Amino acid sequence: MTNQAPPEAALLSLLDLARKAAQHAYAPYSGFRVGAALRLARGQIVTGTNVENVSYGLTICAERSALVRAVSQFGPEIRIEAVAVANLNAAPSPPCGACRQVLSEFILPDAPVIFPAEDGPRTMPFRELFPAAFELKAK
Ligand code: THU
Repeated sequence: MTNQAPPEAALLSLLDLARKAAQHAYAPYSGFRVGAALRLARGQIVTGTNVENVSYGLTICAERSALVRAVSQFGPEIRIEAVAVANLNAAPSPPCGACRQVLSEFILPDAPVIFPAEDGPRTMPFRELFPAAFELKAK
């Protein structure tokens, strides 16, 4: 188990919003209800939830759903300064690989990401969670 300082109050309230967002999950196939909350650099908070589909691969995760909503609402200049993920299944759920890649487009490298781990909420800076994002550097 990693020793971690307790998360700051602002991150805990973001986590609470993620938990509330999970109540809106549309997850009839997996039963796994996830919520995400993003805090943007200008202080706005945007939440999202997973929305599944009968064609399973078309499912969108809570994190990407929040991100798409944030860009739609506030435009392409947004920067994410904190992320919280929660689920209603009392299970670990760090952001999946696809969500990490998509978040990497808009997130500040030091942004804390809090998510459910085996032994309760865990916080990691985004750059540790996703150290080698794909970047397009064509020559
Ligand atoms: N899910 C998320 O919402 N976020 C993740 O990072 C991983 C998985 C959702 C997708 C699907 O609806 C359910 O959890 C089970 O995989």
